[in-house]
Amino acid sequence: MRHLLKVILFVALFALCHSYSFNDEESLHNVTFPATYDRNLRPGENRSIPLQVNVTFYFKSIKDFDESVSKFSITGALGISWFDHRLTWDPAMYGGDLWETVIPQRKVWIPFLVNMLMYDAISEIGHIDMNLRLASNGLISWVVPNLFESTCDPDLSYYPFDTQTCILRFYIPGFLQTEINLMAPRGTMDMAEYSKNSLWDVTETKIYTTTNNLKFQEAVMSVTMKRRPVYYISSLLLPVAFLSFLQLMAFLMPPECGERVGFGTTVLLAVAVYLTLIQDKLPEGSEPSVAYLSYKLLGDFMVGVVMTVGIIVALRFYNREDTIEIPNYLKTFHKIVLGPRMCGCKKKHKVEDNDTKIPQ
Ligand SMILES: *[C@@H]1O[C@H](CO)[C@@H](O)[C@H](O)[C@H]1NC(C)=O
Ligand SMILES: *[C@@H]1O[C@H](CO)[C@@H](O)[C@H](O)[C@H]1NC(C)=O
Ligand SMILES: *[C@@H]1O[C@H](CO)[C@@H](O)[C@H](O)[C@H]1NC(C)=O
Repeated sequence: MRHLLKVILFVALFALCHSYSFNDEESLHNVTFPATYDRNLRPGENRSIPLQVNVTFYFKSIKDFDESVSKFSITGALGISWFDHRLTWDPAMYGGDLWETVIPQRKVWIPFLVNMLMYDAISEIGHIDMNLRLASNGLISWVVPNLFESTCDPDLSYYPFDTQTCILRFYIPGFLQTEINLMAPRGTMDMAEYSKNSLWDVTETKIYTTTNNLKFQEAVMSVTMKRRPVYYISSLLLPVAFLSFLQLMAFLMPPECGERVGFGTTVLLAVAVYLTLIQDKLPEGSEPSVAYLSYKLLGDFMVGVVMTVGIIVALRFYNREDTIEIPNYLKTFHKIVLGPRMCGCKKKHKVEDNDTKIPQ
């Protein structure tokens, strides 16, 4: 038991302490970064084998998705790794355990990744003072935190029950696939650091590589997200549904009180306000399609207009003198639309009503 404890203590101490000294690391840097290192030349001893660059993405959060200007921005870090054959060393020569060291970005060759769907001007990924980790076998790991922005045209047909897919596309200008081969070994983004967005629920992420029309290879990162609709249901859909219901109530009002027209117009204005509210949130484009919700509201608005006209016409006839003869064309219209039977029925009812009243 004591023996085991000693071993564990020894292992723990060994893991915590490094046996290499400051001078070891200094001489390593002196030797591995000679003045002859040309940071404009890509690594790779055998030039007929492309340099493999692995790309991953550590997804932090969705910062913003503004549908009206098609701007999508996320925060996270791009993880890039490759081998540089010029920067290898034997740890045995530097204190025995100098496996890794930290070097500034400006000293070595880095794959200059450019966002193809940038929203603003082109910007460099990383910073000149950023550091990279270098392992003794020449493996360089570079983690670049940034705010990544891209242009993303939304499809708002099913707004607010829509699902959007936005992509970020990166490529390395100047290099063909035969020189640098991008790879995405994971296939998906790393979501360990992800924090939820209040508006969007990320359902799927992907990372893959494609070759575009210009023969450049691209690393494509796609984020599929679903809108959280509860807010829209309570603030948009339910009020609109209630307004539609309210519109029908106009015909239940007694015609004598004369408020029908005012009521109909008020409801119509309320629908118009919601139409404006929704149009403010949505982009003005008609491609790929206008939100069905806009059509629904436009339909509500038209129904409101027709009903208000109907109310006005009905009130006009209601307030007419009873002595005016019904014009022949209206009688014919009535016969055609409602059938010949209807004309007789009404009269009969009236006679029956009179009959029942007489005995009382
Ligand atoms: C590193 O190089 C500097 C100058 O280039 C030199 O003065 C220094 O002694 C070197 N250090 C080691 C540990 O070799
Ligand atoms: C470079 O790689 C190619 C393809 O694997 C191979 O045929 C060739 O022999 C290599 N050249 C050298 C100098 O190693
Ligand atoms: C890239 O990923 C592949 C597959 O996981 C792995 O074999 C290779 O060593 C990686 N290369 C670098 C430079 O990280």
